[in-house]
Parts: sequence; structure tokens; C-alpha cells
Amino acid sequence: MASLTIRKLDDAIKSYLRLRSAQNGRSVEEEVRVILREYCEGSPAPTASLTSPSAPAERPVAERANAAGQASVTLIIGGGIAAFKSMELIRRLKERHIDVRCVLTKAAQQFVTPLSASALSHERVYTDLFDPGSEFDAGHIRLARECDLIVVAPATADLMAKMAQGHADDLASAILLAADRPILLAPAMNPLMWNNAATRRNVMQLRRDGIHMIGPSAGEMAEANEAGIGRMSEAIEIAAAVVDILRPPRPRPLAGKRVLITAGPTHEAIDPVRYIANRSSGKQGFAIAAAAQAAAADVTLVSGPVELRDPPGVTVIRVESARDMLHRVEAALPADIAIFAAAVADWRVANEGEQKLKKTAAGMPPLQLVENPDILATISKLKDRRPPLVIGFAAETEHLIDNAKAKIARKGCDWIVANDVSPALGVMGGDRNTVHLLTRDGTDIGVDDIKVDSWPVMTKEQVATELVAKIAKTVEKNS
Ligand SMILES: Cc1cc2nc3c(=O)[nH]c(=O)nc-3n(C[C@H](O)[C@H](O)[C@H](O)COP(=O)(O)O)c2cc1C
Repeated sequence: MASLTIRKLDDAIKSYLRLRSAQNGRSVEEEVRVILREYCEGSPAPTASLTSPSAPAERPVAERANAAGQASVTLIIGGGIAAFKSMELIRRLKERHIDVRCVLTKAAQQFVTPLSASALSHERVYTDLFDPGSEFDAGHIRLARECDLIVVAPATADLMAKMAQGHADDLASAILLAADRPILLAPAMNPLMWNNAATRRNVMQLRRDGIHMIGPSAGEMAEANEAGIGRMSEAIEIAAAVVDILRPPRPRPLAGKRVLITAGPTHEAIDPVRYIANRSSGKQGFAIAAAAQAAAADVTLVSGPVELRDPPGVTVIRVESARDMLHRVEAALPADIAIFAAAVADWRVANEGEQKLKKTAAGMPPLQLVENPDILATISKLKDRRPPLVIGFAAETEHLIDNAKAKIARKGCDWIVANDVSPALGVMGGDRNTVHLLTRDGTDIGVDDIKVDSWPVMTKEQVATELVAKIAKTVEKNS
């Protein structure tokens, strides 16, 4: 049998094989084997034109759209120098598991080939409005509708002018006119074109029409000695903008609610250099603040001394002692929800030294302790400004549930998050927590009516998310 290598095939067949193998995610050799097997088994022989690399597959557009349930983008590539960046954009979108179907304008084909776009997108590329292969079922309408977003990159001055005027005399402009999906433009052009009064008018009109835009940015132009605004945004920036538009809007269950949180230990001074502290890291309280902020609450976090960075979007007030903490908590009222996760010292030194205490022959200086204010009880028992939902934390090393039930009744709060902080469990300072949520409806309910919900071991972030979800549900029920 004569041996035939792929290298010896003529160019049209080679380019067809490369395209078909890229589309099917196989090597060229594997693709040839599949074609031969199909032929021997009597399957329909491949029908795609060898001379038209943009038409290898003849399945209707509808069959392909979103086959894997992934987000999909129709990417229209306009005729500008920046078209080469769109090849990288295809790759960036695919990396983000977004299906891409490309449409190249006639001018775009002067800068990049349909073959490159097809090989990178693993999809057929569309170039012609009057293509019988795709227009037998009004393919341009399908390209406009069977995607989640239409991206035009580069968006030329010409394409934007056509869009602003509602032209539809080629495939790209017909898709854009028929679209009922969001559209993102990444303009790219010479700064004089960008600043031209006609382009300014068109951009303003397109913005008014609700079209999203990214860029252009300032920089060097392809034309020698020219710089200014007109460079297309980088592929990675456009991909990020696509993901932002495709991402479903974040739920905002605590929008308009003020949430006050305490976290961390307190430091109770013995003298100017020494203090009484505890092992609280503040991680749980900070995680709750971040979760409440993510739920769109207006969050104030009053924290004792910790080594943690402020959660973005949260107002953080740093304090030292229990008395400072109470003072700042009271000043932060009113709040809709108060969560006291700080490990506040029960006692402080009554006779705090104004100077550093010295060793003396008389022995150790006597340290007298006095009780600190109880922040949870103070706020829970407020007459006028009590937040409608007050949540305390109970860190115990024994009789966890019984102690937490007694605490909920004694302090007058609504919920208690009880956790076992025995050193063997590594909760203090660690990243995980095992908690029990104790809840009661109404402060005049007896200890036996307190509900206990025991959660499995979770990260402190997961505990925070779960707690905020419970709070959101309660807020929704009560409103
Ligand atoms: C070398 C070269 C580079 C071009 N670069 C751009 C460009 O970056 N932006 C632009 O708006 N037009 C550019 N043009 C002009 C467009 O290609 C021209 O307006 C074309 O009609 C656009 O067609 P389209 O919008 O259908 O892709 C360039 C033309 C040439 C010859």
C-alpha cells in the first residue's frame, strides 16, 4: 500500500484538515483517521468546501448555540489594525469557558483571516450576509439572538457610524441591528477619527442607546509619530468586561440595612507597656463583616487590636479596651443588626500604673481586677436604640449549649453563636469553626424554647456566609 504523509497533500486539503481538526479538538492525524473510518463505514463524506475555510461545518446555527450550557458571545471583528488583538480575545474568552462565534467584516479580513479565528474559536466563522449556507434559516438573526452578548472588537469608526444610524447592509451591521442582547464595543481608531465631531456624535448616540463601551485608551498609534486616545483596550481587559456584563447581578438581601459588628480581643492595660489580652484573632468577625458587605449592608466594624486588613467597603474603627469598644459601639448606633463577635475582656486592672511597674524587693505588685462593661448586655437591654436583631457570641470550653442558653437569657440578646474554643480544637486564631446557632423569637421566651441549630465544621468565611444568609432570611420575613 502506498504511504502518504500529510506533508505531501496539497495546500487546500491541508488547510481544511487543520481547520477541521482544530474544530474537533483532535490532531490532524486523528482527524484523517476519523474521516477514513467514516468513509469506510459509509457515513456521509465531509461536504465542506475545501476552498472556503470559513465554511467547514454546515450545521444550522441554532444547533450549536450554547450546546454545553456555557455563556456564549458573538464576536464581531471590524477592519482595523487592532483586529490582531481580537485573536487573543478569543483565547481569553475560551479560557473563561465562554463560547465564541466570530463574524469578520470584509475589511477585517484584510487584517486577520477567518481561518485563524475559526481555529482559535473552534467554530465556523461568518463573513457574508448572503451566505446560502447560513441564511437558509435567517442565520444573521440567529447570530444576533443565540448568544448572551455581542462584542465588537475592534469597533471601527465606520461600524459605529452604521450602528448609530441603523444601517444593515452587511452581516455585522445586520446582526447589530437585529440584536436583542447586550452589546459591548471596544473602539479602536486613529485619535483624529476618535475626536472627529461625527464620531463624538455617534458615540454619544450609542451610549444613549444603552450600548456598553470599553476604551479606547491613550497610547502610541500604528501610524508613525502619532499618539493619543484611540488604542483598543487589551484583550484581557475586554474579557474582564465581558465577564462583568455576563455575571448575574449579585443578590443584595441586606441593601439599606445598617450592620454593626465587633471583632477581635480587647487589650486591658496594666501599665503603659503591659496589658491583659486573649487569643482572639478577629478572623470570624472580619469574615462576617465582609459577608454582610457582600450582601449590600452598610457595615461598621469595631475591632480590637488584630493583624487583619480592613475588609473592602466596610467602615472599620480600631479600639484597644472594652470601654473604648462600648463607647464606639454606642456612637455607631442606630443599627438594624448588631453582631458582637469580639472576645471582650471580662475584667480590667483597677489600679492601672501610670508608669511602668518596677520589680521591687517587696515582691509582685498586687493587680486588682474590676469588671468591664458588658457590651452585649448593655446594647441588648437598651430601651430606645436597641437594634431589632442582636446577636452575641459565646466562646466556651465546657457545657457549651447549656452555657450559651443561659447567656442568651441573661444578656437579653436574640441569637447566640456558640463555639467550643477548647485549645485542642484550634478555633482561637485558626481558620475553621464549629458553631451552634441558638435562636429565640422574642425576649420573653423561656430557655426551653431556644432553638439550637448545630452546623458542621466550616471555614470562618463559610460560617460568616451562612450566618448572613440566616440574617437575610429573618430580615425578609420580618419586613
Ligand atoms: C491600514 C488600515 C488601518 C485601518 N485601521 C482602522 C482603525 O484602526 N479603526 C478604524 O475605525 N478604521 C480603520 N481603517 C479604516 C477601515 O478599515 C474602514 O473604515 C473600513 O471600511 C471599516 O470597515 P468595517 O467597519 O466594516 O470593518 C483602517 C484602514 C486601513 C487601510
